Amino acid sequence: MNLFILFLSVILLKESVSEEIVAHFPTRHGLRHRNREKRQVLLFPNKEQELFKWPNNTVHYYFDEYEFDMSVKEPVLLAMEMISNHTCIKFTTEPSDLVIKMISDDSKNYCYAAIGHQGRGDTTQVFSFNAACYSAGMAAHELIHSLGFIHAHQRSDRDQYLKFRKDLDSLDEEYRMQYDIYKDQEILVPYDYGSIMQYIDTADEYAPVHKNRFMRKAMGSLIIAYYDYLMINKYYECSCGENNGLKCLNDGYPNPANCSQCNCPLGFGGDDCSQRPEPGATLEAKEEWQNTTIALDAGYREEIAGKRSQFDYIYHYLWITAPANKTTEIRVNSFKEEKCSSNCQFGGVEIKTNPDPKLTSPRLCCDDTTTQRSLHTPTIVMAFNSEGLDEYTISYRYK
Ligand SMILES: *[C@@H]1O[C@H](CO)[C@@H](O)[C@H](O)[C@H]1NC(C)=O
Ligand SMILES: *[C@@H]1O[C@H](CO)[C@@H](O)[C@H](O)[C@H]1NC(C)=O
Ligand SMILES: *[C@@H]1O[C@H](CO)[C@@H](O)[C@H](O)[C@H]1NC(C)=O
Ligand SMILES: *[C@@H]1O[C@H](CO)[C@@H](O)[C@H](O)[C@H]1NC(C)=O
Ligand SMILES: *[C@@H]1O[C@H](CO)[C@@H](O)[C@H](O)[C@H]1NC(C)=O
Repeated sequence: MNLFILFLSVILLKESVSEEIVAHFPTRHGLRHRNREKRQVLLFPNKEQELFKWPNNTVHYYFDEYEFDMSVKEPVLLAMEMISNHTCIKFTTEPSDLVIKMISDDSKNYCYAAIGHQGRGDTTQVFSFNAACYSAGMAAHELIHSLGFIHAHQRSDRDQYLKFRKDLDSLDEEYRMQYDIYKDQEILVPYDYGSIMQYIDTADEYAPVHKNRFMRKAMGSLIIAYYDYLMINKYYECSCGENNGLKCLNDGYPNPANCSQCNCPLGFGGDDCSQRPEPGATLEAKEEWQNTTIALDAGYREEIAGKRSQFDYIYHYLWITAPANKTTEIRVNSFKEEKCSSNCQFGGVEIKTNPDPKLTSPRLCCDDTTTQRSLHTPTIVMAFNSEGLDEYTISYRYK
């Protein structure tokens, strides 16, 4: 197994703490304000709030012909499609008074975006995406900043979930912006370790540290969480209006992008969230351990510089059933991973032990064979991979 501790940490270690680290690695995607005043966009004096939403729920953008690296366009377009498929947000290249100018700032090994609609008399606002961020998840993180959101570790309730090794007050101002709490930001959804807006937990001295050891590898996720979409929908007041007859099960809700479908917690599918998404299998646990192997071949995206991972995941879902009131035990007995990283960035297995399917459950990768226990049925196992062939042998039983 190739232990690969997050590609940007390597770069970061070579850098001194300077302005360059504004968007500080953990996520190689950061945010940036063009001047201090812009921090106001993160505050919510309620009346002004509307200023920082895109009018008509429509984000206007263009890929700058000279400054954008067209070879990294696909992940950005895919991330736009993911967001617009689950919300009422639209992305358009139609001209407007204010547009996002997409560039690829190659002087930085991270990406950044201005937060919200910067209606300050400018005609363009910044969004930088380059090869260091080649992933739909990273593009989605930046786009969600563009829509007006800060990081999950900047929420006013973050100290219940996270701690820091270093006194953040000692950080350089530009750097600290990635971590400052924005007290007045309205909290629209519960905190989720697996939010795409949450930085990774690494050994880095500035990284946010989990307060729940089971959730460490879910941090720094590149999968858009259920609550990430819901947060966008609430903020932009996207809704399907009065019930159109569609009943969503398993905590789904009508999808504002298509009111004949529901937005489902990960692991549920079908128009009403009653089905297991494909591909996958439903398995019945017994009192004896049984094994099943998931092989997920994501292949590679060939690049001049050699093999490169795909910019999105492929998935496989198991629903493991057990009699009511029994404890289901699940573990990944063996991992064959092309690459492993501390945030399961290249691939891994989420075992949905949390009785609340809306929240991210623990994720396993890098030979983590910890046994997971669930008290509900079915227990959902979601395997995901973005690079080469991964194989996970999963053992399960009930007690
Ligand atoms: C919003 O949509 C309306 C109706 O389509 C249009 O007249 C208006 O110009 C749009 N506003 C912006 C800022 O795009
Ligand atoms: C978005 O929705 C369309 C129409 O349902 C579908 O064809 C497409 O695959 C979806 N794309 C993504 C990224 O979800
Ligand atoms: C909306 O969802 C319904 C039900 O899945 C589907 O039949 C229809 O094609 C979707 N519409 C669009 C525009 O994707
Ligand atoms: C399941 O896999 C484990 C570890 O690979 C092995 O020890 C065990 O014998 C297997 N059990 C069954 C029922 O195949
Ligand atoms: C499961 O436990 C609940 C609460 O203790 C109980 O009400 C229910 O009857 C139990 N169901 C079965 C099938 O034992």
